[in-house]
Amino acid sequence: MADLNSLFREHTQIRQSSAEAVLDKTKFDCLVISSGQPFTYFADDNDAPFHTVPHFNHWCPLEGAHHFLIIRPGRKISLYRYSPEDFWYEQKPLGDPFWLPLFDIQEFSTLEALKESLKDLGKVAYLGNEFDLLGDKGWTMNPEPLTKHLDWTRSFKSNYEIQCILEAQKLGACGHRASREAFLSGASELEIHHAFVRAVGCTDDDLPYTTIVALNEKGATLHYHGKRPQIHKGSVLLLDAGAKWNGYASDITRTHATPSCHERFQSLLKGMEKIQQDLCESLKPGMHYADFHQDAHLRIGQLLVEQNLLNCSADEVHGKGYTMPFFPHGLGHHLGLQVHDVAGKQLSPQGDAAPQPAGHPYLRTTRMIEEGHVFTVEPGLYFIPMLLRKYRENGSASIFNWKLIDELTPFGGIRIEDNVLITKSGHRNLTREHLPH
Ligand code: GLY
Ligand code: MN
Ligand code: MN
Repeated sequence: MADLNSLFREHTQIRQSSAEAVLDKTKFDCLVISSGQPFTYFADDNDAPFHTVPHFNHWCPLEGAHHFLIIRPGRKISLYRYSPEDFWYEQKPLGDPFWLPLFDIQEFSTLEALKESLKDLGKVAYLGNEFDLLGDKGWTMNPEPLTKHLDWTRSFKSNYEIQCILEAQKLGACGHRASREAFLSGASELEIHHAFVRAVGCTDDDLPYTTIVALNEKGATLHYHGKRPQIHKGSVLLLDAGAKWNGYASDITRTHATPSCHERFQSLLKGMEKIQQDLCESLKPGMHYADFHQDAHLRIGQLLVEQNLLNCSADEVHGKGYTMPFFPHGLGHHLGLQVHDVAGKQLSPQGDAAPQPAGHPYLRTTRMIEEGHVFTVEPGLYFIPMLLRKYRENGSASIFNWKLIDELTPFGGIRIEDNVLITKSGHRNLTREHLPH
């Protein structure tokens, strides 16, 4: 692995200079970011699994609630670490993490003392959700012009961030390999999920998102979160599952089929595999993600015609939007500290929105593709009865090969998803380096 200390030092320098520029532009003296307030379920004393405010993790990989960063021009970053004495919950010791030398650290055992020390900071922009604690400070809470700027900077990944995303690929790839083995030996959705988390070496709470482990027809529910223990020996597995490393995510999907699956579904799977790889191969800076998404529709339309699911020309498929019921989601989204990372629809640091292509409401990335972006490429082809119904019932019914569609519906769908880094003149597929198939 590259030397994390020096990568993190470079990452911090980039953060510091962009924060100084934005503080100057937005006329604040100081940026305070907190790691966040836990969320307690209504009428309960149980907390939801804690998710650190992503702005905080952009600066510091420390986990846990109520830590504060104080960022000022020309000053080393201050970290106020909340470390109460506690016999109910474990408070992990700080240890000697690689990032420590970049911060001036003070420890606080009470929130009152921590709050009391947050003073003499001038005009403060605060990012976070600790409004109860800070309400009387007179700070500007989550000012949009500043957050839009910081979101924009988050879409250009530093070498440190790329290394973290690569490590998350390695872990995710281990999980996918183990899950594939489990599927081929006849395991249930629940057992496949267990194989994934065991191989990654974490608990469900440590995953970047809930695994999608779909056997057969469940693959057609895009975010299927069930884990049926009673269904074994599936013909198709759609597994959408990733891992986290230092807060950064991987988001990987593979679809596998056994010989018991319909022959045409296997041909579609081969075709989608080629489409996904060809799409990735075409990537370079200067393209527009919305055009890239349209290209996926074109290619999927051709496949649907070749495989006799649609009885018309590929041009007509595209013109009439007949791919929409088969591929209803966006081709991909930015990836980083959040699985659906920020700024995919931003046109500029000021936050102007990039236009959403008509008829594609679920596309999460609509801006130009630039060096340093990391995003997913995840074309899909599904048999979703709810979306096909309207075509079955209207004038386009004869275009669709319903007999074949009905035969393929029990096999659910196909999605193949890699995470790609845009380089100076092309791209690097971060996922395939660790999970070739
Ligand atoms: N795992 C959710 C997605 O691919 O967007
Ligand atoms: Mn995704
Ligand atoms: Mn995914």
